[in-house]
Amino acid sequence: MKKFLIAGNWKMNKTTAEAIEFGNEIKAKGFSNAKDVAILAPFTQLTELGKALEGSGIGFGAQNVHFEPSGAFTGEISVPMLQEIGVGYCIVGHSERREYFGETDQTVNAKLKALLQAGITPILCVGESLEVREGKGEQTFVAGQLIADFEGISAADAAKIVIAYEPIWAIGTGKTATPDQAEEMCAFIRGVMGGTYDNGTADSMLILYGGSMKPSNAAELLAKPDINGGLIGGASLKVDDFAAIVDAAAALA
Ligand code: 13P
Repeated sequence: MKKFLIAGNWKMNKTTAEAIEFGNEIKAKGFSNAKDVAILAPFTQLTELGKALEGSGIGFGAQNVHFEPSGAFTGEISVPMLQEIGVGYCIVGHSERREYFGETDQTVNAKLKALLQAGITPILCVGESLEVREGKGEQTFVAGQLIADFEGISAADAAKIVIAYEPIWAIGTGKTATPDQAEEMCAFIRGVMGGTYDNGTADSMLILYGGSMKPSNAAELLAKPDINGGLIGGASLKVDDFAAIVDAAAALA
């Protein structure tokens, strides 16, 4: 049976009061597949969101973390700080952080290692720009990210990392990769993992698609064999839209 993870990335949206309201409403949905659902919220909302979701089975997590446990890094949040709140997940290497905040494959790699050591599931984002795709370099580009991001990580640890394929040209643009394009890259990513580690490890890994996933296109994307779920931005901000995507995954499980 295929495993799923439906993860909502709220990005820099919602106040804590709004996060609590969302948490209460989504909990009330009583999803049969609640354990396959997670919400990635801004740091300030995590404690209260976690409380609102308590007992629901739905996971929650952060959108970024620093790789050092403590120190003179003004404005940063560490893995032990996230651990204290009880987060289960943390996004690493989102294209917005790579583009606007200087995230590199080296810092991504350090963050993955710090999270794995703490038992927090990393959701690693990879994906190419429009320019790279137009030059037909998308597979080379994504393989390069993967090789650098997984450097020095064992097969046992790699199996715990969730990979999200997020083509930059499909993020927040309303332009979704076609199910075939998304499947092609997710299968390619699984192949790279198989080559780096082994097929058993690759087959056990969750590989998500992200980029304008919404209720109207989710079922078709999620039905693809190598797509284990979605990392959802805009459509994760409304309870009913997000719930419809969770239900689409439940129908396929
Ligand atoms: P959208 O769903 O808004 O395109 O965002 C995708 C994304 O970046 C999720 O991390």
